[in-house]
Amino acid sequence: MVYLSPELQSRLSTPLKIGSVEVNSRVLQSPLSGVTDLVFRRLVRRYSPDSMMYTEMVNATGLHYVKQLPKIMEVDPQELPISIQLFDCRPDFLAEAAQKAVAEGADTVDINMGCPVNKITKNGGGSSLLRQPDVAEAIVREVSQAVEVPVTVKTRIGWSNQEINILEFARRMEDAGAQMLTLHGRTRAQGYNGPARWEWIGRVKEILSIPVIGNGDIFSVDAAVRCLEETGADGLMCSRGTLGYPFLVGEIDYFLKTGKQLPPPTAVERLLCAREHLQALYEYKGDRGIRQARKHMTWYAKGFPGAGSLRGDLAKIESVTAGVDLIDRAIEGLTGMGYAEGQEIEQRQAIAV
Ligand SMILES: Cc1cc2nc3c(=O)[nH]c(=O)nc-3n(C[C@H](O)[C@H](O)[C@H](O)COP(=O)(O)O)c2cc1C
Repeated sequence: MVYLSPELQSRLSTPLKIGSVEVNSRVLQSPLSGVTDLVFRRLVRRYSPDSMMYTEMVNATGLHYVKQLPKIMEVDPQELPISIQLFDCRPDFLAEAAQKAVAEGADTVDINMGCPVNKITKNGGGSSLLRQPDVAEAIVREVSQAVEVPVTVKTRIGWSNQEINILEFARRMEDAGAQMLTLHGRTRAQGYNGPARWEWIGRVKEILSIPVIGNGDIFSVDAAVRCLEETGADGLMCSRGTLGYPFLVGEIDYFLKTGKQLPPPTAVERLLCAREHLQALYEYKGDRGIRQARKHMTWYAKGFPGAGSLRGDLAKIESVTAGVDLIDRAIEGLTGMGYAEGQEIEQRQAIAV
């Protein structure tokens, strides 16, 4: 049983202030490349009406050379508040990209200074900016001058154990004009391995005046509360915990607001959500949507009898009909076993809202 102390509840009862933007939730849906497209964000939004969403990261150099905005920058006016995340190492291209992001409807612009992927870091973007604090600072200054909306930074604690420089780096980002810092408590060298080191989030929180958002290993309400208690962070960002589980941000938000835990979705509810996700991805992206849906489908199919073989089948689907048939058969099987006693998705939605 998770407990929400009156101190924590009262500390987090006011809106999250990101410069001039106020957000009525302390739980944020992280940017996830290949995942947080418009379709996924709509599902997360349904269960968490107030939370800040993030697009997948967008390459500023790429944007400079194309006339048409990429689909990953598309924002639905219904889904605000939203941040468009950019990556690059060129302050001028990032400033230009930020203006396009604002024109598209971004409430804030986030700069990715944490991505560990070689393809990104070897071009000077993502976490390699931790090793180029002068460039990182110039980026934040130039982008802040180019747009009226708040500019925020998402980063890691350092490049490696030998180069943990987040305290100085974070201070420099704040001085350059960043209006919020999200900190993933791992080094670049760690990738996604080992536990996130939340103690660094606490240390950064102690020295900054702008909001500090904790990130890394927030997989449950329980982890969320522990991270907030241990670090004093102003909010949390959920990442891998939302893969195949767009309920997480809403579950944590609801708990922080009420002290009560929502009943977890039943296996059938998760499969209904998977089916809707699949159909919406196809409508939005066509056949490419089907290919992308395969990984999502395997993330949903967990934790019930027969989930393993369903995952194997869903990983190979070639059409929506094939996916829907597999899911419907699994639902039928679970219903026969008494697994569908839970609420329908709409009921849960009504509770969450
Ligand atoms: C599939 C995947 C895609 C990601 N894409 C992005 C991204 O586009 N931008 C970003 O800042 N972080 C990205 N991240 C990092 C996450 O936002 C987050 O910082 C990291 O996963 C740590 O949180 P976790 O331990 O809760 O997963 C990605 C992570 C994963 C697993």
